[in-house]
Amino acid sequence: MCGITAYCGNHSALPFLMQGLSKLEYRGYDSAGVTILQNNKLITVKCKGRLKNLEEKVSHYQFDGSIGIGHTRWATHGIPSNLNSHPHNNSLNTISLVHNGIIENYRELKNELIDKGYTFQSDTDSEVVVQLLDYYYNGQLLEATQKVLKRIEGSYALCIISTLEPDKIIVAKKESPLIIGKSKDAFVVASDIPALLEYTKDVYFLDDFEMAMITKNDISFFTHEGKSIQKELTTVPYDTEAAKKDGYDTFMLKEIHEQPYVIHETLRGRIFNQQIILDELKDISFEQFNKIYFVACGTAYHASLCGAQVLERITQLPVLATVASEFRYNDPIIDDKTLTIFVSQSGETADTLAALKLAKQKQATTIAIANVLGSSISREADYVLYTCAGPEIAVASTKAYTTQLVLLILLAYYVAQRLNKEIDYQAIEQLESIPHYVEQILKDENIFQEYALMLKNLHDAYFIGRSLDYASVLEGALKLKEVSYIHADAYVAGELKHGPIALIENGSVVIAVATQPHIATKTISNIQETIARGAKVILFTTSHEDIKNIDNVYYLPQVSPTLQSILVAIPLQLIAYYTACIKGCDVDKPRNLAKSVTVE
Ligand code: AGP
Ligand code: GLU
Repeated sequence: MCGITAYCGNHSALPFLMQGLSKLEYRGYDSAGVTILQNNKLITVKCKGRLKNLEEKVSHYQFDGSIGIGHTRWATHGIPSNLNSHPHNNSLNTISLVHNGIIENYRELKNELIDKGYTFQSDTDSEVVVQLLDYYYNGQLLEATQKVLKRIEGSYALCIISTLEPDKIIVAKKESPLIIGKSKDAFVVASDIPALLEYTKDVYFLDDFEMAMITKNDISFFTHEGKSIQKELTTVPYDTEAAKKDGYDTFMLKEIHEQPYVIHETLRGRIFNQQIILDELKDISFEQFNKIYFVACGTAYHASLCGAQVLERITQLPVLATVASEFRYNDPIIDDKTLTIFVSQSGETADTLAALKLAKQKQATTIAIANVLGSSISREADYVLYTCAGPEIAVASTKAYTTQLVLLILLAYYVAQRLNKEIDYQAIEQLESIPHYVEQILKDENIFQEYALMLKNLHDAYFIGRSLDYASVLEGALKLKEVSYIHADAYVAGELKHGPIALIENGSVVIAVATQPHIATKTISNIQETIARGAKVILFTTSHEDIKNIDNVYYLPQVSPTLQSILVAIPLQLIAYYTACIKGCDVDKPRNLAKSVTVE
């Protein structure tokens, strides 16, 4: 999700810019750059790759200018490259800008500017902002910025400097993070608090649709319409390490709580007038396919199981979800009439990448669902859709999983739309409200902490569910075993009596999910079978009938059954998280596990 830094003060800007960008590296990026304003010139140095590449390039300059901007890019539009790196400058090199976010209407703005004679250096959405600034500039950078903000749609944190007004930085914010720090001899700007803390703990938090004009001795705040406003200076109460996690104890907890925001980001621009917009797939003729495969590993496989069931129900096509390490060695029967969909957070999982290459060899059409732009799997596939979960630092996947579910449900409805199949418009409407429902569930965190107390001394835990709920309990069991090292297994509830129920004894804990109306009562009967053998049960459901003598029932918000997998993931993540915490496990870096399994 990129990083932004800016400096305006009495000393050289570069040291702050570079230390700030290094503090923001954990957010993930693919390229970096800075612009320093000195001797009334804008000097921009930027490149693809790690920050050390930029440090090497910058070392060849004598930078002492006291105004500058910096950026680490997490590409959304335009592959990672030197030209697509930020900062972006106008052709006269009088204005330089860094941007975090997505300019959703950049295509129409770019065409409008090209018609006016503008030429573009990059393939990014961000470059339209600096060219628009050039177009609207008429002696007042603040005014020109306000005109630009009226034209652009989407999310942004912007820092702008110019030789036309060489004493200031203009910043503006909408949905992307941007914080301003005030030190004794400078104003400093960054995407989050850790990048500022070595310089100051006194910060201004800009809200959406607010902007600021910063000089080295003064700062003034405005709304995007230009109305002057006051902002309060706040002193940050914590140190650098805590700040990187936004004040949360661990990255995993931070990422669990980021889910309303990143689900919103993944949905952004994807639903318009109840139509699903996935232009990345517009060239695919879905009529040609007689079979669809989902291929993935681990959590991504569980998301695929859900995506496959939803897609099959909606399209009436045979859809299979399979584990990549099996797919690649089982000589699958696929050909040019097969659509294969590869799901991967990192985009680097060796088994999934190998399976993708096999599918291409067999002439299948390939779509990647990835979270890291420019990753191997996203580049190898014929088509790619990106989740916007931002970098996921904790090894146990949480926000990547729920954003994968969201994108796979969008994909299912999109394919249905393209095939003129019946569409559940109520579900699409509810999909847009999912961030709100997730927010609601997160507020019940203390309930899930209580549930964790039931698991803390267990050696084994059992998860049961049917249909879409089976994918959810597989994921819930994986989360618990990954971070707490409790032996947790998930079973199709209807299978219990075919063997697994032999494991149930007095004191066993069973976590059940029953959110699918057509099958919930059957799952609840299976629950009764376990209670009859001494099990303690935690049930996640929406239905209210038939629920007797179950001690712990959590009612999920009433949304379309198709969407329930997204919601029930939250409590299952938190139960795993708090059980691991109670057991003193290393939640962010569980033993034996890697974040990306790039070997077989
Ligand atoms: C999930 O919590 C695990 N860390 C693991 O199962 C992971 O989902 C799997 O390795 C696949 O990774 P990918 O999504 O990056 O391909
Ligand atoms: N959308 C812009 C780009 O792709 C900014 C991405 C970011 O926030 O780093 O360059």
